[in-house]
Amino acid sequence: MTNVIGQPLPRIDGRAKVTGGARYAADFNQKGQAYAVIVSATAGLGRITEIGVDAVSAMPGVISVISHLNAPRLAYGEHKGVIDPAIGERLHVLQDDQVRFWGQPVAIVVADTLDHAERAAAALNVGYTAERPVVDPSGLIANAVVPEAARKEGARTLADAARGDADAALASAEVKIDESYDIARENHNPMEPHATIAAWNGDRLTLWSKSQYVVNEQAEIAAIFGLPVENVQVICPFVGGAFGTSLRTWPHVTLAAIAAREVGRPVKLVLTRKQMFYTTGHRPRTLQRVALGAAKDGKFKSLIHEGVGETSRYEEFIEALTSVTGFLYSCPNVRTGYRIVKLDTGTPTYMRGPGEASGVFALECAADELSYKLGLDPIELRRLNEPEIDEAADKPFSSRSLMKCYDAGAERFGWSKRDPKPRSMRDGRLLIGMGVASASYPAFHAPSSALARLLPDGTAEIEVAASDMGPGTYTSMTQVAAETLGLPVDSVRFSLGRSDFPPAPSHGGSWTMASVGSAICAACIAVQEEAARRAIADQRSPVFGASIDGVVWEEGRLGRRGDTAPGQTYGDIVASAGGPIEANASASRDPDIASRYSMHAFGAVFAEVAVDPDVGTIRVRRALGTYGAGRIVNPRLAASQCTGGMVGGIGMALMERTVLDQRDGRPVNAHMADYLVPVNLDIADIEAHFVDEVDPHVNALGVKGLGEIALVGMAPAIANAVYHATGIRVRTLPIRIEDML
Ligand code: MOS
Repeated sequence: MTNVIGQPLPRIDGRAKVTGGARYAADFNQKGQAYAVIVSATAGLGRITEIGVDAVSAMPGVISVISHLNAPRLAYGEHKGVIDPAIGERLHVLQDDQVRFWGQPVAIVVADTLDHAERAAAALNVGYTAERPVVDPSGLIANAVVPEAARKEGARTLADAARGDADAALASAEVKIDESYDIARENHNPMEPHATIAAWNGDRLTLWSKSQYVVNEQAEIAAIFGLPVENVQVICPFVGGAFGTSLRTWPHVTLAAIAAREVGRPVKLVLTRKQMFYTTGHRPRTLQRVALGAAKDGKFKSLIHEGVGETSRYEEFIEALTSVTGFLYSCPNVRTGYRIVKLDTGTPTYMRGPGEASGVFALECAADELSYKLGLDPIELRRLNEPEIDEAADKPFSSRSLMKCYDAGAERFGWSKRDPKPRSMRDGRLLIGMGVASASYPAFHAPSSALARLLPDGTAEIEVAASDMGPGTYTSMTQVAAETLGLPVDSVRFSLGRSDFPPAPSHGGSWTMASVGSAICAACIAVQEEAARRAIADQRSPVFGASIDGVVWEEGRLGRRGDTAPGQTYGDIVASAGGPIEANASASRDPDIASRYSMHAFGAVFAEVAVDPDVGTIRVRRALGTYGAGRIVNPRLAASQCTGGMVGGIGMALMERTVLDQRDGRPVNAHMADYLVPVNLDIADIEAHFVDEVDPHVNALGVKGLGEIALVGMAPAIANAVYHATGIRVRTLPIRIEDML
């Protein structure tokens, strides 16, 4: 069964997902479970002065009201996963009377039914001494600081990087632009809200909990409760979208576990949509400056990119806001800087394309703007400044197909039909614009392990503590295992989402295919070797006595090398062995390769918009992304994943914005009626394509990952199309109707 990788198989879990067979965290109802509802702070900063426990305790069905007054003191031991900020300490929940941001959990009400718990939570009176929080970073750019994590690294490259003298080169550049960009805070808003069911058995805790990183959730909850890690089990076979919000273990998981322990029964806790805007992270608002200087012929001479992101008072969240700027273009003088502002808000977190999506927006709008000043086609400007190597890292790219993406994309999109003059194309009354932007995201690879098990019936099982938030991990990993083992896809069963499976990295950073896929390859090869050793040692086997190099697997059969006889199947060998044969293996990136190459995926993103000049509405009529992301394991799922990310980019460009009340830090649009995301009518024609790209360096599978890059580049392509349609340059996201009038 070779060539399974690369086949456009439909999702093997698709039927389960659309028929209710897939079980999400909140579906794992437990016998005798109670229901917990979080009471969220209605002050943005201050102290809790009163909690009206008595009145609520008497309400129907109420079992317990837990607040800082009676909550157990928790260990909050040392633990930092790769997705926790390096600096600061996570929010300790119900441990004191302080309110640090609007919506912080201040109590939980546990009742026999959800209805009773909701009523009691709504009735709970909480008193505060409230102060005015600081939640707007825009006036605080001067107060922004170098992240402490960057200072600790010594080189400060996380915050600052430079080559040449960008400021002097800008001053003397023949053509230049120097502009500011402001991107709104966003919340992830997956379909499935955060949910945890917690059940204790003595000092052992089981959590059915929405998570992109079950082994991290296990370790974090163990640290918070002061338990041995093996006493905590996290189970999450399905994730109904996440986009980064389920990478960290947020306070509601701790609250569910506290509640279950306090009431002595399993407890189910599901966040409301409103609560999803409070304590589960957000894309930080960013404020950026990009200055670009070029010679008259369009060659870049200077590139300056300064970015500021927001973080909380208690943790320093940082993201790769300006990193792409160092290597997207060839330019002798480049300076990038990154600072953070501490605000009275919950800690932001990674949200699809974290850092890159925001930073590339500023960079790619600036490049577009410069192209008009130069009188150059925006694609030609990029071609002119295409680098030979990664000039920031001073290393070759492992592969880079950006111009190939532009060429293929331009052809498909019909870029040549574009009249370069702004406000020149019309369809009836509507102003039509076409825009482009580049996309890039690192080809990460984190260490992962996997278990492969051969069963007597000739099938194989693969287990990894990975997650699948929607991209099709179940299917793509099954393809990798089937191809490596030489088995049909339906003879391989892949399981994920349990913390007692071999550890995997977070399901984020677009590294699952590379990391988990490589580990599965390694485990499949290891289990083949183990099976071969067993066969060689088995007197009944036709390969008995052969050397390990003298046998070979072909189409799932083991035979002597050079022998044309069909050989033994996995089932034959396992049956002789008297039980399953299994092997555990790990894989990680070769550090030598990592030190020699700069590894990123690239893409070219095109958008066509129609703007109504009278009422200012903007419609994305067509969007087309072309990506060079290494080997595509499943083109159908890859395209689906990319179009999903592009929809997120449409949201970023035109709709998504979490608005805070400046008086108290309250997110005023914390619901899906006013926090807008694109629906079908907002999307129209949307396509993702892949150029052939063979990268021999990134990993054994040659894959680069697609989750994040699909969001990067869409928003600037739309903003650039809006400019082309209207002649109005908008540097604040989301672009609103008012901006068009
Ligand atoms: Mo992605 S923001 O790493 O889930």
